[in-house]
Amino acid sequence: MKTKAILFYVPLLWLYSLVGWGQEVNISINLDEKAPIISKHIFGHFAEHLGRCIYDGLYVGDTNKIIPNTAGVRNDIIAALKELRIPNLRWPGGCFADTYHWKDGVGPKEERPTIVNRWWGGTTEDNSFGTHDFLNLCEVLGAEPYLSANVGSGTVQELIDWVQYTNHDGKSPMADWRREHGREQPWKVKYWGVGNETWGCGGNMTAEFYANIYRQYATFMPGWSGETKIVRIASGASEDDYHWTETLMKNVPHHLMEAVALHDYAVFNWEDKGPSLNFDEEVYYKSMEQALKMEEYVTKHVAIMDKYDPDGKVDLFVDEWGGWYDAEPEVKKGVLYQQNTMRDVMIAGTVLNTFNNHARRVKMANLAQMVNVLQAVILTEGEKMIKTPTYHVMNLYKVHQDATLLPTTITNNTAYRGLPSISVSASKSNTEGINISLVNIDANEQIEVIIDLQHISSKKFTAQQLASNNITAHNSFQNPDSVKPMPFKDFKVKGDKLIVNMPKHALVVFNSK
Ligand code: AHR
Repeated sequence: MKTKAILFYVPLLWLYSLVGWGQEVNISINLDEKAPIISKHIFGHFAEHLGRCIYDGLYVGDTNKIIPNTAGVRNDIIAALKELRIPNLRWPGGCFADTYHWKDGVGPKEERPTIVNRWWGGTTEDNSFGTHDFLNLCEVLGAEPYLSANVGSGTVQELIDWVQYTNHDGKSPMADWRREHGREQPWKVKYWGVGNETWGCGGNMTAEFYANIYRQYATFMPGWSGETKIVRIASGASEDDYHWTETLMKNVPHHLMEAVALHDYAVFNWEDKGPSLNFDEEVYYKSMEQALKMEEYVTKHVAIMDKYDPDGKVDLFVDEWGGWYDAEPEVKKGVLYQQNTMRDVMIAGTVLNTFNNHARRVKMANLAQMVNVLQAVILTEGEKMIKTPTYHVMNLYKVHQDATLLPTTITNNTAYRGLPSISVSASKSNTEGINISLVNIDANEQIEVIIDLQHISSKKFTAQQLASNNITAHNSFQNPDSVKPMPFKDFKVKGDKLIVNMPKHALVVFNSK
């Protein structure tokens, strides 16, 4: 009998040691009266003159009779973005911004000079999409415009003229010029970037040099807009360049700077980023390792900001983020275009959870780039338009916009390859109720997640999931709905516990009203 038991149990134990015991992750949702609001601007977007983001993407031209459009912008894109309730849109770059001269993009379109897009493929653009086109689009979308100004090859005068042109409601040379071009009322643009990546494509400056330049530009920017208080955004660090943030926080008087930027892309090797579609599990985990570093970067940049600005007057804007892979082979050399898969769902879900959880200081973020470039929410091909898996993440996560953060603690989040499996954020709002967004990044294992709801009164949850058997699942022009939100039912509420069986590489958003 004893020998039989040994023969039975020992192999079983050996098998368990190979496949694991089945993980159980515990989360508690806490109450904190001082918890911040999750700014809706965390769910912002970015449109750059790059590849087919603007021309032959968002903008098909106001004389286009084939693709239905409003003042040249595709109607299907407008409808899709309205559904997302996009809170803000950054434009015109990126690297492009520090070569852009806004005065070339106003007035009669046929008289506008061309511009060579020297950063992105050397394409000659006709400047037909300019300031009016962009700001009017933002009005149609109900989104706040964020203008990224040219410091690298521009002048202080050019920038203050732009502020005056867009924001001044009285009589002035620039306001009168705007009226001549058909726009009586100023747009009152609030968000202004003072250069982009000034440590690199924006001028290869040192932090100390840029801090001085920034002070000069920022001095002359306000005062052109009547009652509108503008937000001046200092060009920020890349990834873990803490010296950059420290220098700005130390050298720039805080009354001159409302926000500091940060850029961080999920790239594991800048020389060989790997394909956007045909990647294996190894590459998937490398991408996730990079994406999850956002937590460390934000934590450390925020700690520096806390040191110099304990009252939290200067915000952190992560105004470029997303997954970046090798461009699809058919794309013109020097421009970017990539597909979007369940890997991007994992990246967007975990990174947005990080931003939500840091809502005290992170007040804006901009996913790069909205249409046809990096982690796009929309792809177009001629008359066709598809919503990517990342679009659906943004749509599911919009419940967090302007909701109050519910801080969470997570334990037993046993790591695979040193990475946590589960990412979470939660919020509460008057209109949306309680929202919990959960991501399981594990490529192979379903994970049981037990969420302690003792502080939550309403426990009647419904849930939507983004899941697929295949981590490379994506939407194509032939099969546009391969990845889309579906109802999720594999959970139960037992007393104070929400018990969830999170499928492998899946994202689930719970809601209880
Ligand atoms: O998003 C592509 C490029 O990445 C942007 O133009 C630049 O700001 C960053 O380096």
